[in-house]
Amino acid sequence: MTFKTLDDLEPGQRVLVRLDLNSPVEDGEVQDNRRFDRHAETVRELAERGDKVVLMAHQGRPGGDDFVSLEQHAAILAEHVERDVQFVADTYGDEALDAIDSLESGEILLLENTRMCDEELPEEDAEVKANTEFVQTLAPHVDAYVNDAYSAAHRSHASLVGFALELPAYAGRVMQSEYEANSSIATREFDGQVTMVVGGTKATDVIDVMNNLGDKVDQFLLGGIAGELFLRAAGNDVGFDLEGMDFFDDQWEANRETIESLLDERGDQIKLAVDLAYEDENDERAEVAVADIDEKDRAYLDVGSETVETYDPIIRDSEAVFVKGALGLFEDERFSVGTVGVLRAISETDCFSVVGGGDTSRAIEMYGMDEADFGHVSIAGGAYIRALTGAPLAGIEVLKQD
Ligand code: 3PG
Ligand code: MG
Repeated sequence: MTFKTLDDLEPGQRVLVRLDLNSPVEDGEVQDNRRFDRHAETVRELAERGDKVVLMAHQGRPGGDDFVSLEQHAAILAEHVERDVQFVADTYGDEALDAIDSLESGEILLLENTRMCDEELPEEDAEVKANTEFVQTLAPHVDAYVNDAYSAAHRSHASLVGFALELPAYAGRVMQSEYEANSSIATREFDGQVTMVVGGTKATDVIDVMNNLGDKVDQFLLGGIAGELFLRAAGNDVGFDLEGMDFFDDQWEANRETIESLLDERGDQIKLAVDLAYEDENDERAEVAVADIDEKDRAYLDVGSETVETYDPIIRDSEAVFVKGALGLFEDERFSVGTVGVLRAISETDCFSVVGGGDTSRAIEMYGMDEADFGHVSIAGGAYIRALTGAPLAGIEVLKQD
């Protein structure tokens, strides 16, 4: 491992821990999600060994509806940790400092939303962030810094990069496992076939992933909006916007040449959908073979069953399968066939697997699959994509420093 972990941190100290509890907020109510459950493991471990645990996290961004206090997060986290989690509505003022100073061994305190602090957000170098009043005020009140927020580690914000330069710094359990799993495609040697399922909405994500991992991955199985753009580049009459749509044309303009040359250079590795699904007059799922589409006159919302049948054996023959992005609009059960089909094949196969990217991993829970049947289910979106494209994560780079 390239950074220190909790195994290297002497117990019984006052520890400042950065979590990522950024959650969906509906009508002002914070929705429980797997981030709480995952981070609870790190928090519980520290509390159980007698540390005084000070937690930092963010929620939303100023101006957004989901930019709310972390008071509800403390209550939700407490249920997962099965211990009391105190909350103070202050980031680094006197109230926060008093609460930190009066913590007893094994107690847990959550500070207010880091993004309520003006110095948190601007993306700046770690050295600049380390010199903010926020970091300089809090750091002397704790003995060590633990970053567990892998899914926010692509942001160079004060709470994610500043403290690591001021305090002995360690990776928490979530940081450690996410880093290990998500870097494995680039760093590990697999004996057999390596397959990557790539979907979602952004063509540039798919392009960057192919450029970075093209020599490590044997097959890319495509779907989603990105997949439709590749179908267009392969000469099919799909992959453009219909009236009122804004998914395809701008991306096509910007990426057409790159997609065409990827198909040229890596055509053998890239598998495209052979059929697509849409909503018919009766609001039911219907399918059409890509070869039979003369003119795009409807929206395609999933890959078709024939496509799933060609992807399924490829997955079952793989030694490792990585998933980035959904193959269709899986939140609607009618259009979940592609995404659920590949996930089910992975769950039934004895391969090493990593699932992440946006909300894709949510399909596992939604459709009754068991997380334990996957190697690693990431709670990261943007950070996961960065890892797959080989981009460094600012919050991890600072942990690697001595
Ligand atoms: C996330 O939820 O994607 C991370 O917590 C990062 O949040 P951000 O995208 O608002 O910076
Ligand atoms: Mg985000």
